[in-house]
Amino acid sequence: MKRERWASRVGLVLAFAGNAVGLGNFLRFPVQAAKNGGGAFMIPYFFAFILLGIPLMWIEWTIGRYGGKFGHGTTPGMFDKLWNKPISKYIGALGVMIPLLIGSYYLYVMSWTLGFAFYSLKGTLTSFTSHEQISAFLSAYQGVVKNQYFHSIWTSYIFYLIAFLFTMYIVSRGIVKGIETLAKIAMPTLFLFAFFLMIRVLTLGTPDPINHPDWNINTGLGYMWNPMIEYLKKGKTWIAAAGQIFFTLSLGIGVLQSYASYLKEKEDIVVAGLATASTNEFAEVILGGTIAIPAAVAFFGPVLVKTGGAFDLGFKTLPLVFGKLPYGWLFSTLWFLLLFLAGVTSGVALSQPLVAFLEDEFGLTKKKAALIVAIVLFTLGQPIIFLLKYGVLDDIDWWIGTVGLALFATLEVFIFNFAFGTERGWQELHRGASMRLPRIFYFIMRYITPFFLLAIFIYWIATDGINFLLMKGVPAANRPFLIATRIAIILVYVAIAVLIRIAWDKKKNVGK
Ligand code: PHE
Repeated sequence: MKRERWASRVGLVLAFAGNAVGLGNFLRFPVQAAKNGGGAFMIPYFFAFILLGIPLMWIEWTIGRYGGKFGHGTTPGMFDKLWNKPISKYIGALGVMIPLLIGSYYLYVMSWTLGFAFYSLKGTLTSFTSHEQISAFLSAYQGVVKNQYFHSIWTSYIFYLIAFLFTMYIVSRGIVKGIETLAKIAMPTLFLFAFFLMIRVLTLGTPDPINHPDWNINTGLGYMWNPMIEYLKKGKTWIAAAGQIFFTLSLGIGVLQSYASYLKEKEDIVVAGLATASTNEFAEVILGGTIAIPAAVAFFGPVLVKTGGAFDLGFKTLPLVFGKLPYGWLFSTLWFLLLFLAGVTSGVALSQPLVAFLEDEFGLTKKKAALIVAIVLFTLGQPIIFLLKYGVLDDIDWWIGTVGLALFATLEVFIFNFAFGTERGWQELHRGASMRLPRIFYFIMRYITPFFLLAIFIYWIATDGINFLLMKGVPAANRPFLIATRIAIILVYVAIAVLIRIAWDKKKNVGK
């Protein structure tokens, strides 16, 4: 069966950029930076980008394109080709499991942005004047409490169904007609909205000159960017920077490899990879770094960022800010549509690997594979939606979305360097490239990236890992749910491993 290929260079860069640019750029990055030293955060961030992000990204593109040559669109088949050992495909199973599990809650969170865009357009969100009101609105929307705003979860459920079905529809249309076409429309629109919002924020001036003359856009920008050098001495700052690089470039998940399997054999991945990463960094540092935090600080002063997380900032504080501006509903709508576009191009990326797995390893048609994936994702999503208040989502996000990524990336980089061989990998990376990378990257890929990754993984396990494992600070009522969550994670892994076993047995018999 002939595999699809990205139709154009521009299209593929936009699709990869759509994959990378997500909620992380506009919500997670600003909060991480502001909490970890402001401008000083950019130093470890830059180190992590050069020593971990860029090399790992090239490695994942290389592995993906190489696997695609053999008809494999996911890491079980890819790792099998890199390292001819029975275990390699079971390590690769992580690259199917991680996107599946992240996707099962990501699509839900992404649907909130759609719901909030709707309530911005209606004027509801920007009519709130206090944090308490908007918190009550959000909690009721999520079905955590019942109050005058919502009596049940069903409103949010309808937005979830819309977002979910739209994502599945795109995936079922395939790489070119679905994902590439979406990216060509969504990415320019997203940038347009982000520019517009950035300009608005930069022209905020001093919103309340009488009561708070020192709260203005300059203090806002200063809060975000003034370097607090003492943060550089903390290990946590460096780990946070590395974690952000991982998340924002979509590394260690299995999605880049899957996208890369649809590249032409001679595609210039050195340059295309750089173009994608630069697009993501622009969206993150310039746009993401200018919108949320400076606006929030100009209106509410510097305290709030310390108390609330990424989520509070984007979903609660910004609508309050916009509510104080003329045409606030418009800015609020644009903001949530921006987040939705960023989210949906990442949502399709998370759904794609399992589709590719079923197509490539079981010979299913795209439509059939997409239908099965929709059923599986939907089923996994339900407990996460309905058990939100027991902390199920946060638990999966930590085990899979944080530690899982570091574990998978570490294993992958070791296989690439020490089973496949760095030299072979380097040749493979440069196939079709119009420029040669400085040899220093060879050295970084082989000796720095793997050990940097290993260190992060160990650090996470040794610090937060113990607390998560023992469920420290978790209310007793939530514990059974978290235990069930962890059992479910293991069962998902086992199910994928069994499928791999079946697929490989079948192939062996065909070969005879
Ligand atoms: N990179 C995305 C972000 O910055 C997150 C993501 C990871 C999306 C993996 C898809 C797949 O938000």
